[in-house]
Amino acid sequence: MAAADSSLPIAMFDSGVGGLTVLHECLVSLPSEDFLYLGDSANFPYGTKSRDELRGLVARNTRFLLDRGAKLLIVACNSATAAGADVAREIAAEHGVEVVTVVGPEAEIAAAISAGGRVGVLATPATVSGGAYHRALADQGRALEVTEVAAPDLAPIIQSGFPFDEGVVSTVRGYCEPLREAGVDTLILGCTHYPLIAPMLQRMLGRDVRLVTAGHAIAATAQRLLESAGLESRNDGEGDYRFLCTGDAAAFRELGTRFLQMPLGDVEEVAP
Ligand code: DGL
Repeated sequence: MAAADSSLPIAMFDSGVGGLTVLHECLVSLPSEDFLYLGDSANFPYGTKSRDELRGLVARNTRFLLDRGAKLLIVACNSATAAGADVAREIAAEHGVEVVTVVGPEAEIAAAISAGGRVGVLATPATVSGGAYHRALADQGRALEVTEVAAPDLAPIIQSGFPFDEGVVSTVRGYCEPLREAGVDTLILGCTHYPLIAPMLQRMLGRDVRLVTAGHAIAATAQRLLESAGLESRNDGEGDYRFLCTGDAAAFRELGTRFLQMPLGDVEEVAP
């Protein structure tokens, strides 16, 4: 069992490269921390998997990362969080490690900034069917009209769609239709892939619609937890960040650079 200590990295996982949009914010907000990122690209996409399958993958990824040693775990995938946040927390508790997940932070921000209380959620089928956003938004102590749209193909299209073409634009336009009809004033980007299409969404939905992503809030929550446990990095300079992936390392590196907006360096192929 790895005991949490301040010199250990912050571990993070996602179904592949999507969580790199969360890592991006963490690298900016917590520059002196070390990070260990696992992209489970051999099992991408998570968004169309069953709850049981996802709970198994969450358990496996959590054990694998914590056995390597980590002082905090971030689940940087909405589909994994919706199906198995409790699984990650239970296993991490055995290691004395806290867990930060997506979903809750975005719900809190959306409820706080929505002008008219009409909140949209664009997410994978696994995330929508699990009802995680519905519950998280209902817990905000404010009456909200919630419109959820499940997008089975959007994460795979974003992942394989560089450079984006008219096909991507028309897919995104189709998903915007019910959101426009509902007159949402705030949209939660409920999948860590979606920040890459934020400009398209903003253009289609209009400038006044507020887009909410998880990155900033996750970084702030991680910082707060580390400080309160006395686990923040003692490094003066910049920390390092390392990558593990279950699929092809070269493909992960090439694709990942676009999501991280920074160079990736070495990627180690692993079989958890
Ligand atoms: N990044 C995952 C999420 O946040 C979605 C991509 C997938 O379907 O694996 O939900």
